[in-house]
Amino acid sequence: MKDPLSENKFAIIPTIVSGNQETVVVNFLKTARELLRQAKTLEETQEVWQKLNALEAISKKFRLSKEVQLDATELRIRIERRVGEMLNQKNQSREGDIKNQNQNSVKVYLDSEDSKSVSSNLSFTKNDLSKFQKLASTPQKVFEAVITDLRTEAAIKRQTALSTTGILRAIQNENKKDRELLFSPIIKPSDNWNFSTVQYGRIDENLREERGYIPGEIYANCFWYYVKPGDLVIAPMAGSGQVWRVYEARKEWMGQHIYDFKLKMFDLTPRGKYKDLITQHDLTKSFPITNPDYIIIDIPYYGMVAQQYSNKSEDLANMALENWQIAMTTIAKNCASAQQTGSLCTVISPNYRDVAKKQIFMITDIVRSLWELAGYILYDKAYSSRRIQQNQTPQMARMNNQAKANQIMLTDITEVLTFRRV
Ligand SMILES: C[S@@+](CC[C@H](N)C(=O)[O-])C[C@H]1O[C@@H](n2cnc3c(N)ncnc32)[C@H](O)[C@@H]1O
Repeated sequence: MKDPLSENKFAIIPTIVSGNQETVVVNFLKTARELLRQAKTLEETQEVWQKLNALEAISKKFRLSKEVQLDATELRIRIERRVGEMLNQKNQSREGDIKNQNQNSVKVYLDSEDSKSVSSNLSFTKNDLSKFQKLASTPQKVFEAVITDLRTEAAIKRQTALSTTGILRAIQNENKKDRELLFSPIIKPSDNWNFSTVQYGRIDENLREERGYIPGEIYANCFWYYVKPGDLVIAPMAGSGQVWRVYEARKEWMGQHIYDFKLKMFDLTPRGKYKDLITQHDLTKSFPITNPDYIIIDIPYYGMVAQQYSNKSEDLANMALENWQIAMTTIAKNCASAQQTGSLCTVISPNYRDVAKKQIFMITDIVRSLWELAGYILYDKAYSSRRIQQNQTPQMARMNNQAKANQIMLTDITEVLTFRRV
């Protein structure tokens, strides 16, 4: 092969120092492209790669324009892909002979008959060759898209460089996208919505208890099963906005079936980091919006959360049973008057058992009868653990013993009751 570049990879430096550096490197790059086109063997291709390494080093050393530096790097990476293709081709033709499908491709090549001549003539390391083969195994379309993206990023951002490792990382990310699960494991296939590890844990830092809260995963499952694309969803007791966090992260739990809907949040006492997205509203006065396709209400659990959200008298958390029932009756009616026939409304609540006083309150039955009276029918029901038993503190041990001694069970299950407007 005719070699217009010197054997010594830094031999062009004197020319560059004396001439117009940028023009000289640009011309050398043209020559290198031509050499690459002509290169037939791995050794010839390696020579062009070595010259490109030199050009790259020079363009950096003399701080040539970012464009020229990137041209040199891009061409070097393209040569690496070509080397990988040559290796892959050789391996393919040898595979039948050596009949060892389990070897990885680099190993197949180096272990093969003429590996000595190859390894003595090639100065690439095994690691280099493995990277080149990965570049070569990437479909042309993906490779071109990734190299264009990374080159553009490197041209814009000072701290980003175009590199073989960067390209391989981006290719891996692309492949991961393809391998995105069809359905997320967060979405439960049955009415048992228990989440042993919680991805969307409590975000309201003012609340002291670490456990016993409803995981955001419950919102994800409600959305999945009850919300259609384009729906208007209202969370009128959004509190600290867990519902928003789950909504925002929907790409994480929607698997390959990603769709959009609108979510609006209200609460008597908006708080937390999403406070500005939550409109202050008392649900006992009215429903804040007309015609919602879906309403999801995580109500203050009767008997468990007094003074936790506010000290307001209109806060359901602070009400005794009678007032709580009156307020819930009004809320059910407000929901019903805002919704059209066929729309869904979910109310999330556990029952309540006062172990010390030996009292049992079937709160979810009360909710059901109030929503039915207001003009809904029960459409669906799911169950989720409040995970209280995961809290292995001495206090929990005492409560467990008290429950057994008083023959009153602790309440762990939250019911997710979904009603349909008739
Ligand atoms: C179980 S919490 C909801 C927590 C919410 N899931 C979150 O991410 O923080 C119940 C919420 O109902 C709100 N609330 C209580 N009474 C209300 C009322 N009359 N109108 C509207 N919201 C009320 C409380 O402020 C509290 O935020």
